[in-house]
Amino acid sequence: MSDDGKKTAGPAADDRLVLKLEGVCKYFGALHAVDGVSFQLDKGKILGLIGPNGAGKSTLINLITGYYQVTSGKVWFQGQDVTSLDDYQICRLGMARTFQKIKVFREISVLDNVLIGTYARTKAGPIAGMLRTKAERQEEERVLEKALGLLRYMGIEQLWDSRASELSYGDQRRLEIARALATEPSLLLLDEPVAGMNPAEKKTMIRLIQELQGSGLTILLIEHDMNMVMELSDHIVVIDHGVKIAEGNAKEVQKNPLVIDAYLGKGVNHEHPSN
Ligand SMILES: Nc1ncnc2c1ncn2[C@@H]1O[C@H](COP(=O)(O)OP(=O)(O)O)[C@@H](O)[C@H]1O
Ligand SMILES: [Mg+2]
Repeated sequence: MSDDGKKTAGPAADDRLVLKLEGVCKYFGALHAVDGVSFQLDKGKILGLIGPNGAGKSTLINLITGYYQVTSGKVWFQGQDVTSLDDYQICRLGMARTFQKIKVFREISVLDNVLIGTYARTKAGPIAGMLRTKAERQEEERVLEKALGLLRYMGIEQLWDSRASELSYGDQRRLEIARALATEPSLLLLDEPVAGMNPAEKKTMIRLIQELQGSGLTILLIEHDMNMVMELSDHIVVIDHGVKIAEGNAKEVQKNPLVIDAYLGKGVNHEHPSN
């Protein structure tokens, strides 16, 4: 990588800084979906990104991960300017995400869904893998073990052979996380990971996110369940109409009048349809 210059020149020369956004904007015509948002995320921390529906949260994840291109502003990931990179390039650098509207490959097996994630990290790739040299066979075995291990970790190993479309909603969300983890990310972005889950499933997911943090992963979490956000987040960023209106720890954010007015005062703990 010829990133020496970027590493020292960028704002993330500090090794603890995993993600930094500076004045990020995304305009869809006249709609300012994200309008000048800046924040940063330190290594090993969980950042909760909250705000009402339509605030621009998912758009922010799409911008950070290269799924959308910014209208203006900058995104740095681990010291590198990733603003103009495509999603697959950013994935290779160690960022993985899940979608608010679940995206799994519905017509293939659960295991194959995770294997697709692992290919982002293997040298051979699926086509070269077919040539099956000894080294590649060993690589395949290692990858298979890893994929099964991730399914076990997510509690859906017994479903490895099912079609993804046959899985319950909660299991599909778990599968999506397994696939994201298969890319061996250092930053995981979760867009409403417990939407549609029952309280027991939510509890399990909270424990899992804590475990992932314990293993050294840095996490950006979009979530409407305030108890969950407050329990998990080291730092919270609140956006409304594309603009950051507050940030701080759970206590600071909870008593901020702007946040109460824009969001917390509006019964956000109720389930809402996933959009
Ligand atoms: N691809 C798109 N084209 C046009 N408008 C979009 C697109 N994606 C999101 N938006 C709009 O941007 C705004 C923010 O959406 P979104 O980021 O999904 O909000 P949130 O995730 O906070 O609920 C909404 O008004 C939404 O309709
Ligand atoms: Mg959203």
